[in-house]
This record gives sequence, structure tokens and C-alpha cells, in this order.
Amino acid sequence: MKNNPIGIFDSGTGGLTVANAVCKLLPKENIVYFGDIEHLPFGDKSPEAIKEYSTNISKFLLEKKCKSIVIACNTASAVAYEHLKNKFQDVLIFNVIDPIVRAVTQSSKIKTIGVIGTKVTVDSEIYQKKLLKHKSDLIVHSKATRSLVPIIEEGLHHKKHLLFALLDNYLGVKPMNEIDGLILGCTHYPIIKTEIEHYFENKIEVFDAPTIVAKQLRNSLQENNLLREQNERQDHQFFVSDFTPAFEETANLFFGTEVNLIKQSL
Ligand code: DGL
Repeated sequence: MKNNPIGIFDSGTGGLTVANAVCKLLPKENIVYFGDIEHLPFGDKSPEAIKEYSTNISKFLLEKKCKSIVIACNTASAVAYEHLKNKFQDVLIFNVIDPIVRAVTQSSKIKTIGVIGTKVTVDSEIYQKKLLKHKSDLIVHSKATRSLVPIIEEGLHHKKHLLFALLDNYLGVKPMNEIDGLILGCTHYPIIKTEIEHYFENKIEVFDAPTIVAKQLRNSLQENNLLREQNERQDHQFFVSDFTPAFEETANLFFGTEVNLIKQSL
């Protein structure tokens, strides 16, 4: 089991930010990635639909003999994590929300935190509930930033004037302009983390999933004696339910020539 791959999934490109961090921290591990581009964006779908997509993807990853599954999508983490945990009890399942909540609530500097994410994630109030459970005096402001995923998926975030106009629209108004920390509650947003930090003139702390989640994964695999022992790994495998140029571009950016995209409908 310990030499089996780690399964990672998202609706599209965003989860590659997590996969990239996992590869850097755990270079011996093999990864099977699934990007459900056919159903992108998850962030505008019903919780029932997201649970169904996530279940089908998890079944596929388990057929690929994955020893653990990382839900590298905040939207699926928000509405499908408990469902997957109950359904697939024999495998370790990780979400991207709990490790961030832990990091924020452990930081004594953060008094007012902003959360941005998809409509489903924000409507679920999952960050708010979990943050306040750990630190009841925290002030939490959340905002659905619905246009950020489409511009990242289309590669339009490279047009800085467009991106900064959107950021200003979402973050330049009260109460979001009064925060001292910001959670990037969507795995697509680490792709524009530097721009978000610049937007706030590097004056606030920006929390995102990739490194924090990769560390939590490493610790749990270690605790469960599931870290890979073999040194030679096979190639990572990347499956998508549909091809898009943006996915290919981001996958190549993070994984270089290793990426061989395989189309897989579920
Ligand atoms: N990656 C998803 C998330 O983290 C956002 C993209 C989508 O809506 O499918 O919430």
C-alpha cells in the first residue's frame, strides 16, 4: 500500500497548485491527478451535483489503487468531504480547508480575516464556522469572487489591468479592505497570490492551501506508515474529463515535460 500513488483531484487547474506542492515536499511519491474540466466550475453547481462528481472521481482514483485522496478543491472540500469520508472509510481523505483553518487560528497576529472563494464555498459558511470554533473572537468577512476562476482558466489573469480591476472590485471595498489576513479559499487563487499580495501592498498575510496541505499530508502519511519507500518513481498520471489549453499550460508550467494528459470521462 505505501508504494501506491496519491490521488489528487479538482474541477480543473486549481488543484495543480496543491499537486505541485506535494511533489516538491514528497519527491518520492507518485501522483494520479484528476481534473474534472467537463464539470468546471464546481463553484456554481448544487452541493448534490458536487458530491456526485467527487464520488465518481474518488472511485476512479481508488481503481487506480491510490493510497490516499486529496480533495484539492475548496468547493468540493466544503460540501463533499464528510460524504466522501463516510463512503470511503478505508482510505485517508484530505480536504484543503482544515489545514488552513489551523494555520490561521494559530497565528496570533490575525484579528480580522477575509475569505474569498466560489459561491458554493462562501454560501456554505464552512470557513466561518470552523474558524470561529477554534477562535471565537476572530472577525471573519467572506466574499464570493466568482469571476476570478474563469479568468484564470482562460489565462486572462496575465492581463494585469484586468486582474487588478477585478481585485479592486472585490477587495477594495468595506469590510474586505479592513482585513489583516486573507484566506485564498479556492485552489485556483494561489496562481494569482503574488498579484493579490501586491494589491494589498504586502501589508496583509495571505494564506493559501498548497504548502500547508502538503505538510499535513506528509505528516499523516508518516503517522500511518504510508510514506513511499521505493526511490524510483513512475511518471505522475494526469487525467482530465476534457482538454483545455489553460490546463495544459499550467500543467506544463508546474510539471514540465512530464505531463501527458489522458482524457477520461466518468
Ligand atoms: N478549484 C475550485 C475551488 O477551489 C474552484 C473552481 C471551480 O469552481 O470549480 O473551489
